Amino acid sequence: MSDSVIGQPITRVDGRLKVTGGAKYGVDYDFDGLVYGVGVASTIASGRIRRIDSSEAEKMPGVLKILHHGNFDRLYRPANQLEEQSRPGESRPPFEDENIYYYGQFVALVVAETFEQALAAASHVRVDYESKPPLVRLDQAPAPTGKPAAQQARGDAESAYQQAPVKLDVTYLTPVETHNPMEMHATIAVWNKASQRLALYETSQGIVNHRNVASQVLATPLESVEVISRFIGSGFGCKLFPWPHSWMAAVASRQLERPVKVSVPRSLMFTTVGHRPMIQQRVRLGAAQDGKLVATINEVHQGTSFVDPYLEDCVDPISMLYSCPNVKGEQHEVQLNVGTPTPMRGPGRTPALFALESAMDELAIKLNIDPLEIRLRNYAEKDEGSGKPWSSKHLREAYETGAERFGWKQRNPKVGSMRKGDEILGWGMATMTWPGHRQMAEVRVRLLADGTARASCATQDIGTGTYTIFAEVVSDRTGVPVDKVQVVLGDTSLPPGPTSGGSFTTASVIPAIYQASDKAVEAVIKAAARDQRFAGADTKTLKMTQGRIHKQDQSPSAGVPFHEILASQNLAGLDGQGRAIPGDDLKKFSIHSFGAHFCEVAWDPEIYRLRVSRWVSVVDGGRMINAKTARNQILGAVVMGIGMGLFEETIYDSRTGHPINNNFADYLVAVNTDVPDLECIFLDYPDPVLNEYGARGIGEIGLTGCASALAMATYHATGVRVRELPIRIEKLMAGVQKQTA
Ligand code: MOS
Repeated sequence: MSDSVIGQPITRVDGRLKVTGGAKYGVDYDFDGLVYGVGVASTIASGRIRRIDSSEAEKMPGVLKILHHGNFDRLYRPANQLEEQSRPGESRPPFEDENIYYYGQFVALVVAETFEQALAAASHVRVDYESKPPLVRLDQAPAPTGKPAAQQARGDAESAYQQAPVKLDVTYLTPVETHNPMEMHATIAVWNKASQRLALYETSQGIVNHRNVASQVLATPLESVEVISRFIGSGFGCKLFPWPHSWMAAVASRQLERPVKVSVPRSLMFTTVGHRPMIQQRVRLGAAQDGKLVATINEVHQGTSFVDPYLEDCVDPISMLYSCPNVKGEQHEVQLNVGTPTPMRGPGRTPALFALESAMDELAIKLNIDPLEIRLRNYAEKDEGSGKPWSSKHLREAYETGAERFGWKQRNPKVGSMRKGDEILGWGMATMTWPGHRQMAEVRVRLLADGTARASCATQDIGTGTYTIFAEVVSDRTGVPVDKVQVVLGDTSLPPGPTSGGSFTTASVIPAIYQASDKAVEAVIKAAARDQRFAGADTKTLKMTQGRIHKQDQSPSAGVPFHEILASQNLAGLDGQGRAIPGDDLKKFSIHSFGAHFCEVAWDPEIYRLRVSRWVSVVDGGRMINAKTARNQILGAVVMGIGMGLFEETIYDSRTGHPINNNFADYLVAVNTDVPDLECIFLDYPDPVLNEYGARGIGEIGLTGCASALAMATYHATGVRVRELPIRIEKLMAGVQKQTA
């Protein structure tokens, strides 16, 4: 196993194509007769369209068509019968009627010969609105009633809380955050009238899902739609599901019988392609004097839109993260006049852990217990929510490794007590957690007569390294070197693969690549048995090692390269097909990744400057398939976590519902100067149940816990507890002034 490529820090196989401009992204395709669609977006957040006047715009140069609810094709709502792989970003198709539910909702599409002509004409489409005051904040909306959308219950949490010797009752708020992948959303739709087929060139985290939903929304047979997304400039969740602009491009192409490109500008990425919803969490913890939890209660209000019941479960973590006999979680949705939210890296758990982990810290302070110690005292030896054993959990070791590496023992818990020159240091830590999952995957592997291999699957690589993982597994199973494995993804004509989401892609594809590779090898061995060099040999006695077919008792070097076998029989290649469906054996276990963040902030009280100065993350995420791409996921997530903790917030003007910081100048994310050297340690214990290598997935876990570790470090330095993210300088100034008043 030592010479296996599995686990090695292999450079992305698609890296060279990307940095040399050779990788084709969705909008890079060109077609004869390609025309351009520019969306007109609503400038009110609630109300209706009284009248659309496109007469002036229609007369402008190059304009081909202006589409709106008055002349659009009828579209259908997806029926969700294809199980998990049939979900739109927004249930309401574009231009369904005259109603406006959020600022930036598409109300018309101008299609013209050039982009500039379409853009010019779009500004001349007159829309007359009847406007109502919008609701954009949870605290403006009426308190939700009725049955909770998500729930957790065990024991009797309310009475256990009432009787608890120590009580904590605090409310946290996480704001709307907007995904800002480098590559913006866009669709090129190519309708072929002769074949009645539609091709959608997309930037998608889930091409199979996109194809399935397109088939339903556009009322087109499944086999008539193809979705292509070969390279993707990241997504973080906002490209998991198709959004209205894709259907707008499709309908325009069908009506005009021309290829149509529709791009979503950065400003509209704040309204029409999802965001992390605003979430308010009232957390109550009841504990004994020794810090042992007796009751955990989380009451959640989560914002959603008026056009989709998007839910992200924030009450799940209290059921499994700590040992506690009495648990209650209730989550209600609150409809707001904002675009539909969607998963954003670590949905549910990321906001939930900001609240729960902050509350654990507040409880530890109340009891004068070390924050790490209180977590160990409440360590969950099994999943108390489901009652199942963990498939693999090494969180204790993650805490200990991180504490050791960070020097946690030297911590003086007194606020403001740790200094370095003019600055006050603050230390924080938090738990991270994310579930391990698998989805169905089908993979084809072909061993070719030129000595190379080809692996294909209708999944996609959003930048995380999926192309590379495929090449590594094929190489490990066939002996074909990684650079001789061609990987083809991002096209729905290939065998169906999983969505790139939920951190489950790697875990899902491994078993299918494994099977397909082994079957391709078996096919070559069968062919070898017909070869005169192995004439009459029982296939059971033949093996393929390092790409060479040999007899079991022979050394591989005495064997024959597989491509010589193929060549001698005039075979172009031999295929293996793998299909892996998660089995019931997985249901016996609770499968989760865990880890711990430790961080330090440096606070300069003279100028109210807060900077992150150190960060150590220890991840128990199963076995890493590629040490380089894995590390990259965690570092990227911590950068995003610093953004979540200190900067990120989409701000809506409550009068108009306009997200006023809808651009890269005003929507702040963490940049180089905000980020210190980050350290990331993987424990690398293979998960014994999830797949052949024991990989669980690490795309999202790194972001969970970051913001609470920062809030804790900030409190330790400043004495100010920030419960509403982000931790802004204004909040620290107000907090410090309150202390000294
Ligand atoms: Mo992830 S939020 O499932 O891209």
